[in-house]
Amino acid sequence: MRLILLGPPGGGKGTQAKRLQDDYGLVHLSTGDMLRAAVASGSEIGKKAKAVMDAGKLVSDDIVIGIIADRIGQPDAAKGFILDGFPRTVAQAEALDVMLRERGIGIDAAIEVRVPDNMIVERITGRFTCAKCGAGYHDKFQRPKVDGVCDSCGGTEFSRRADDKAETVQSRLDAYHAQTAPILPFYEKKGVLKVIDGTLPIADVTKRLKEIVEGASVG
Ligand code: AP5
Repeated sequence: MRLILLGPPGGGKGTQAKRLQDDYGLVHLSTGDMLRAAVASGSEIGKKAKAVMDAGKLVSDDIVIGIIADRIGQPDAAKGFILDGFPRTVAQAEALDVMLRERGIGIDAAIEVRVPDNMIVERITGRFTCAKCGAGYHDKFQRPKVDGVCDSCGGTEFSRRADDKAETVQSRLDAYHAQTAPILPFYEKKGVLKVIDGTLPIADVTKRLKEIVEGASVG
């Protein structure tokens, strides 16, 4: 099973990908997470990406296509994957198509988690993450069961992303509408595009996603 989660920044792609990965044994491939790891490691790619990410713009196609090409070729990805945050431009979608065709595989579903812009600022500025295990939370919509303690690992340190500031959100939304939304027709033409109402509570979005995933498998 190979899935793509599409949708605006803060729309819930990462939250849902983590849930699907556990339930279906798929690998969660987030280019945002990979780029943040590159920034944290101080690698050449990280140095190039940092300023672009902090400004809420898109990192160049050649960098992210290279990262995904390497990652998809690793053995754990052979059992299936969920792409989160990739592709994000028409050039990336076309490059992914070539990569998959060369391997004789395809995409089972490209699912747009649709959330209007006016809900995004609250979603993004309220987000925080366990510093130890990466579990995601929200100040209002997804609080840990015990305040200050991670539900998943018991960690007590949390972090917020450098690009999760209200002033950067508009650039990220602009990049989404100008560069990423145009790939929706690309997947519609292939007959694999599905749309989910991402304004529903987290558990309801998961339920809708699972209905799609369970109906979409082509092997
Ligand atoms: P990336 O990390 O991909 O960020 P993004 O697309 O902006 O998406 P987010 O991770 O912000 O949001 P999400 O949809 O995963 O939402 P989440 O589930 O956390 O990219 C970051 C940067 O890296 C980019 O700006 C770019 O510079 C670069 N980059 C990455 N990939 C690239 C590529 N392919 N090409 C070029 N550049 C690239 O949810 C958000 C919050 O809302 C959470 O707190 C959550 O608890 C809460 N929430 C989730 N669902 C719901 C719900 N249904 N109801 C209420 N609250 C909810």
